[in-house]
Amino acid sequence: MDLTAANHRIPLSDGNSIPIIGLGTYSEPKLTSKGSCKTSVKMAIDVGYQHIDGAYIYRNEDEVGEAIREKIAEGRVKREDIFYCGKLWATHFEPERVRPYLEKTLKTLQLDYVDLYIIEMPMALKPGDEFYPKDKYGNWLYHNSNLCTTWEVECHPYFTQRKLLEFCQQHDIVIVAYSPLGTARNPLWVNVSFPPLLNDELLNSLGEKYNKTAAQVALRFNIQRGIVVIPKSFNPKRIKENFQIFDFSLTEEEMKSIEALNKDVRLVDLLLWSDHPEYPFHDEY
Ligand code: A2P
Repeated sequence: MDLTAANHRIPLSDGNSIPIIGLGTYSEPKLTSKGSCKTSVKMAIDVGYQHIDGAYIYRNEDEVGEAIREKIAEGRVKREDIFYCGKLWATHFEPERVRPYLEKTLKTLQLDYVDLYIIEMPMALKPGDEFYPKDKYGNWLYHNSNLCTTWEVECHPYFTQRKLLEFCQQHDIVIVAYSPLGTARNPLWVNVSFPPLLNDELLNSLGEKYNKTAAQVALRFNIQRGIVVIPKSFNPKRIKENFQIFDFSLTEEEMKSIEALNKDVRLVDLLLWSDHPEYPFHDEY
């Protein structure tokens, strides 16, 4: 695969293609200043990102839409140059709720279509307009759903997903890796008992060899395996840094040594919902 900053789409079996790096846009709303999402998306498009990952529930989808529309109006990109992925939240898995919720996303973005629409997580919460429904005692209100599949997979050097990758490669399925840098480590939904991925000695020493950072090595590792990455950053320097992964490559031996870092550690373990009857992470995948 010859990936470059200008041409880094990988083919999908339906004839479409997906850019192998996207900008993640989830940022804890209480800790994020208004406008920073919009500025970051605009900057990412200027840097050359063609793929933006967002969701209505992130509460900044309006800013994502404004940024994309402004870049189109400026003539910097056309709508078809941008790949936008939106997400269906857990309170809207009932078939009749899917379309209205997608329409909310389109209205918020003020765009005519999304390029990909995925199920945010494979556990349903009580249907309704309350995004985090609880009873009067503070217990989560779960709901049964009938999901056959989910398309999102956490993937990084501490959780390399070798078996899943082999299965997907055999069946021509492209994996999108969320949390490719090891997340922002919010203890509410992340297992923070392991040291931060980006402090890893091997990733840092390989970074020194190539004059790159541990983050760039972690991202390169995934894209070199054909896995799409969606690192989140609202920091101009890091948005650029995360895109500068097309001008070096890791040797086969280095790829193997990073693969050996795997600890089968799922960082996004969502333990707050571990007693949900459909909690997906008791199983191997
Ligand atoms: P920030 O937005 O301030 O850059 P993930 O994509 O795995 O969820 O990780 C996102 C977290 O990693 C965010 O806290 C983000 O913070 C931080 N981050 C993004 N890019 C880099 C980088 N190149 N080096 C270090 N931290 C980064």
